[in-house]
Amino acid sequence: MLAARAVRTPQDPSGLDADPLAFLEVAERDPSPVPDGWVPVTVRAAALNRHDLWTLRGVGVHPDALPVVLGCDASGTTEDGREVVVHAVLSDPDWAGEETLDPRRTLLSERWPGTLAPVVRVPARNLVDKPAELTFEEAACLPTAWLTAYRMLFTNSGTAPGDTVLVQGAGGGVSTALVALAASAGLRVWVTSRSEERRARALDLGAHAAFAPGERLPERVDAVLESVGKATWGHSLRSLKPGGTVVVCGATTGDAPAELNRVFFTQLRVVGSTMGSREELGRLARLCATTGVRPLIDDVLPLADAADGLLRLEAGEAFGKIVVRP
Ligand SMILES: NC(=O)c1ccc[n+]([C@@H]2O[C@H](COP(=O)([O-])OP(=O)(O)OC[C@H]3O[C@@H](n4cnc5c(N)ncnc54)[C@H](OP(=O)(O)O)[C@@H]3O)[C@@H](O)[C@H]2O)c1
Repeated sequence: MLAARAVRTPQDPSGLDADPLAFLEVAERDPSPVPDGWVPVTVRAAALNRHDLWTLRGVGVHPDALPVVLGCDASGTTEDGREVVVHAVLSDPDWAGEETLDPRRTLLSERWPGTLAPVVRVPARNLVDKPAELTFEEAACLPTAWLTAYRMLFTNSGTAPGDTVLVQGAGGGVSTALVALAASAGLRVWVTSRSEERRARALDLGAHAAFAPGERLPERVDAVLESVGKATWGHSLRSLKPGGTVVVCGATTGDAPAELNRVFFTQLRVVGSTMGSREELGRLARLCATTGVRPLIDDVLPLADAADGLLRLEAGEAFGKIVVRP
C-alpha cells in the first residue's frame, strides 16, 4: 500500500533545525501490525497537521514505532459501509476516564500507524459517525486541529457569547478553526498574523479585526487562544484583561518565559489544552452539521503528493487545512 512515513531512526540528529522533509518517504510498503481486534477504516480523506512535521523531526514519536505511517486525521468507511471520522487519541483499553487525561495515551502516528495510507486500523471505540452534511475532505479536518480548537474555545476559555477573544496566528489549521468556531458562537474575534494578506483572509473567515503580531489592541480581551508560543506569548499576556484566560495548545515557535509576575499580579489563568474527547468530537461534528460552519480547506492533493503539502505547511504558506486523498 502507498503510505507517507517518517523514516528517521532514533539515532538521527533531532531538533527544531532538522529538515523534516529529509525524513519523509512516500512509497509502497506492507502494512505494520496493530493490536488484535482493531478495525480497518478505508481512508477517504486525511488532513495534514503540524504534528506530522514534529513527527518527521522525531518529536513526540515513540522510538520503537519508527519508521511510522504519518497522519492523525482521517475520515472514511468501515467494512460494513459506515461513514466515520477517526478519533486520533488512543487511550489504554483499561483507562476509564476522559481519553486525553490517560497518561499512557498516544495519538495516531506516535506509536501506531497513522492515517496517510489507504487503510488505518483503530479500536472500534475511536469511531464517530460522519455527518452526511460534511464531505469526507471536510470531515477529515475535524479530529486534530478542529477538535483542539473546539476544546480550547468551548471547554477551556471560560468565554461566553459577546466576549472578545484574540487568536494568535491567522492562517494555521488550529487558528482558522478557532476563528470560524468563535465567530459562529457569537464571540468578538480578533486575530494576529504576520502577513497582511492573511489578516485580510481572516476577516473574510469571520474575524472582526486583524492586527500585526505584537500590535497594541484597542482594548484588552477576555481570552487569548495561543498555539504560536515564543513569538506571541508576551503579547498574549499583555493583551488580557485582569483575570483573563490564555488557553495554550502549542508552541510552534518554541517555549517562552512564563512572565510569572504578570501572571499573578493581574490574576491570569493559563490553561493547557490538548486535542479533545470522543464526546467533544461528536459534538463538534454535530455543530458543523447544524450550523453550516465548515473547515476551511486550502488544498486537496493525492497522497502521492503529500510531500508538497507538508512543504507548504512547513513554509507557513497554507491558509486552512491541506487534505490528501489516498
Ligand atoms: N495540544 C494539541 O492537542 C495540539 C493540537 C493541534 C495542534 N497543536 C499545536 O498547535 C500549533 C499549531 O498547529 P497547526 O496545525 O495549526 O499549525 P499550522 O497550520 O502550521 O499553523 C501555524 C500557525 O502559527 C502562526 N505562526 C507561525 N509562526 C509564527 C510566528 N513566527 N509569529 C507569529 N505567528 C506564527 C501562523 O500564523 P500566520 O501564518 O497567519 O502568521 C499559523 O496560524 C502546532 O505547534 C501544533 O503542534 C497542538
